[in-house]
Amino acid sequence: MPTAAPDHLRLENVTMAFGERRVFENLSCSFPAGEISVILGGSGSGKSTILRLIGGLITPVSGRILVDGQDISSLPESELRLVRNKLGMLFQGGALLDSLTVFENLALPLREHSDLDPDAVAAQVHERLAAVGLRDVDALLPNQLSGGMRKRVALARAIIMNPMILLCDEPFSGLDPISTRQVEDLLVDINRRRKITIVVVSHHVDSTMRMASRVMIVLPDGIVVGSRDELRNHADPRVQAFLTADRDSPAQDHAVEVLPGAFGA
Ligand SMILES: Nc1ncnc2c1ncn2[C@@H]1O[C@H](COP(=O)(O)OP(=O)(O)OP(=O)(O)O)[C@@H](O)[C@H]1O
Ligand SMILES: [Mg+2]
Repeated sequence: MPTAAPDHLRLENVTMAFGERRVFENLSCSFPAGEISVILGGSGSGKSTILRLIGGLITPVSGRILVDGQDISSLPESELRLVRNKLGMLFQGGALLDSLTVFENLALPLREHSDLDPDAVAAQVHERLAAVGLRDVDALLPNQLSGGMRKRVALARAIIMNPMILLCDEPFSGLDPISTRQVEDLLVDINRRRKITIVVVSHHVDSTMRMASRVMIVLPDGIVVGSRDELRNHADPRVQAFLTADRDSPAQDHAVEVLPGAFGA
């Protein structure tokens, strides 16, 4: 029997609220090392919130958030910064700096967080751009790139510091079907070659089901977790509703309506 991969990320009994607005209560889940996990769920169900909690960008009301074994839920900012070095984050909008060229966008984190000389910085930048299938784009500004190219540059930047964990929020949003497939292939390739633990939040059921070794669906009353096959055979009709939503379009419009605070009730 193959042994299960150890967990790289784990949420234990996490309760999260923004002011009075409770997003979830006593949520526990984990993401195995070196694998691609996908989080599906209705709009507003808390998917981005889970990634932001793991990234230490927001603090839970209670519970533990373990990143590579370390509880980050109450770490001071100075120590959080060290944990964030293990993480690469691809945000929904790409979050490139508009006034900087592609080269500068990628070089910036290296200059800030390493003592590489300029030649080594350039080599790393070009290696990451090549990894996402881009070349001769150094001098372009983000607004001179297509949506798919912007997404790739953002992905190159997310892996510039060699993270052991990559968090991707809606990496396929705004992409045509071919670019979607290319970004999907890139994530699978990055996972295989660099053994990075990847967590993807997405409404694109087809892409996610192709790439995920583990799928987590956030429902109003809790989560459902399993392998692709386990979820395809799952008895809960809401799981089937997610997985069989219109194959040609994101599941967003078909997603279950989520009531705030319904978790753990
Ligand atoms: N900074 C914030 N302040 C107040 N409420 C917030 C904040 N961020 C998120 N929320 C609320 O938390 C809930 C979950 O939001 P989240 O962004 O995690 O949803 P999501 O599952 O990622 O949705 P989508 O699929 O639309 O991106 C929503 O009700 C949202 O309004
Ligand atoms: Mg979101």
